[in-house]
Amino acid sequence: MTTGEFDPAAYKVSQEREWTETAEGWREYHEVSERHWRRVSVGLLERARVKSGQRVLDVATGIGEPALTAAGLVGPEGRIVGTDLSAAMIRIAEQRARELGLGNVTFSVTDADTAQVGSAGERVYDAVVCRWALMFFADLPGALAGIRRALKPGGWFAASVVGRADRYPLVATVVGAILGTLEVAPPSMPPPGQPGFFSLSDPVALRGALVSGGFADVSVEPFELVYEFISGEELADWQFAISAPVNALLAQVPQRRAAARAAVARAAEQFRASDGMIRFPPTENWYASGRNPG
Ligand SMILES: C[S@@+](CC[C@H](N)C(=O)[O-])C[C@H]1O[C@@H](n2cnc3c(N)ncnc32)[C@H](O)[C@@H]1O
Repeated sequence: MTTGEFDPAAYKVSQEREWTETAEGWREYHEVSERHWRRVSVGLLERARVKSGQRVLDVATGIGEPALTAAGLVGPEGRIVGTDLSAAMIRIAEQRARELGLGNVTFSVTDADTAQVGSAGERVYDAVVCRWALMFFADLPGALAGIRRALKPGGWFAASVVGRADRYPLVATVVGAILGTLEVAPPSMPPPGQPGFFSLSDPVALRGALVSGGFADVSVEPFELVYEFISGEELADWQFAISAPVNALLAQVPQRRAAARAAVARAAEQFRASDGMIRFPPTENWYASGRNPG
């Protein structure tokens, strides 16, 4: 969505399609993702105060995070439900749960914006978590209202979102290299109030969203992630596989994908460290958490 005329229905259709197109990529590059983000799942579960035996909802779980990490934490007495807009993502999450032998986690296709995130009923979850997805919701107040309704009184919600664009050199490098190689229109930043990768990167707005949603004891905390890769090609392959916005750019000139990959790999060389790894400067990210006062 690039103009002031925001059409939530059309946006939703494109979100579902774009994420579905990356679902197999998420499966294939799962190890690269989790090498960076495993600790984010752990951080979210800590902030949502998740304990053994609890019932936890993971909104926009993709191929199953933090749901699968939570399943280990709550143990056989606990129950996890993971939901996502994309049926392709959910199928892979279910498959992964089976492969891991986890009997305490189920998944369902659910649109968080419909405020039905807690389709099991109201006030049934001890905790709700959401990793890297809150910023994509077309109706954030509606989604937060649904999350609050799904929580038991006193239950905690925790989410992670990316920080400001100028503190995300990885994205600037990948997108810059693609735009420098392919003749495609640069993605414009959505106007304030519309969803997008960086739409919740302002900590004041992020806090305001949770406070307006009726959460108590709201906390917004920065955390850094250092992205590192064995090669620029590994970076390109990972981003091309999992990033819906990057894929939308590449899809405009599919025959030039290899040229774009080479350009990203070349651009990443500026971050080659003395130990041989491609290592980006720390990125800014935010944890937001709050309690359902009842
Ligand atoms: C960046 S991925 C994060 C997936 C997962 N939480 C993780 O961290 O690995 C964003 C996910 O949000 C999902 N999503 C986007 N809009 C949604 C909505 N309205 N309701 C539910 N899921 C949505 C997408 O399908 C996608 O799987």
